[in-house]
Amino acid sequence: MARGKAKSKSKSKGRARTASRRARGMDAVALLKADHRQVEQWFGQFEKARDDQRKLELATNICNALKVHTTIEEEIFYPAFLEAAQDEDIHHEAIVEHDGAKKLIAEIEASGPDDDFYDAKVSVLSEMIKHHVKEEEQPGGMFAEARKAGMDLVAANVGTAKRAVDAKDDVKVLKGLAEAVAAWGKAAPGLFVPGSDKGDTKALPVAFSDHDGLVKAGMALNAAALKLSAAAEANDKAAFATAFGEVGAACGGCHRTYRAR
Ligand code: HEC
Repeated sequence: MARGKAKSKSKSKGRARTASRRARGMDAVALLKADHRQVEQWFGQFEKARDDQRKLELATNICNALKVHTTIEEEIFYPAFLEAAQDEDIHHEAIVEHDGAKKLIAEIEASGPDDDFYDAKVSVLSEMIKHHVKEEEQPGGMFAEARKAGMDLVAANVGTAKRAVDAKDDVKVLKGLAEAVAAWGKAAPGLFVPGSDKGDTKALPVAFSDHDGLVKAGMALNAAALKLSAAAEANDKAAFATAFGEVGAACGGCHRTYRAR
């Protein structure tokens, strides 16, 4: 199974930093980055561990990390996924998987290495997490797909708005579309989940390390799109055209920093 992973260059510095951040409950999103690898390493070490004290320590680390991890995913990333991909099946599956893992974590925490089923429970948890990580991290995994779907949708909306601007059409009907673009600005940064940076993606590595910058860029789009929405509501074509320019600038601003050309 995960044998050998424990021996791989252990990022002990990163681990210490992660652990102390976790203890202080700080910068929750940055934690995710190291979490998958770290937890895999702990699972590998658990498999080899022989003494109960060590097993307890590793299982406690694993459970604590996974509890923080699942909370962050559920509060930040999954809503963004649902918004972008509109794929309830995958979203609900992920939530159900989380629930299964949470139950198992609670059982592990409530027992100890002297329990006959302790090792089996940790082993099953390890398999669940592996499956879950694979879904998120494989090329074309759920977050990479959601980014594509969302970006294509927002680009289609922007195309529709541009046609209205060019034709000097009434823009009142475009309010909902503008609101969708605004919502995307808020949601998109939640899809750049550390680990989903492989395979067919144009996102630059910095999109996965600079979450705060991404949020800022997303909020710039949000603000511009809200102006677009207000102009639509007033059916003010001139204001709509101006706001449309700002929306385009916000898209481009984020792409310049976070997307490969
Ligand atoms: C917060 C940053 C950010 C904002 C804001 C943003 N984008 Fe993107 N966009 C990206 C990144 C990063 C990628 C590459 C994603 C990937 O390939 O995983 C991307 C990819 C795309 C793609 C290509 C999708 C594909 O199939 O690969 C299109 C089209 C696109 N964006 C359009 C837009 C439009 C239009 C806007 C403005 C309404 C916009 N984006 C706003 C960061 C952003």
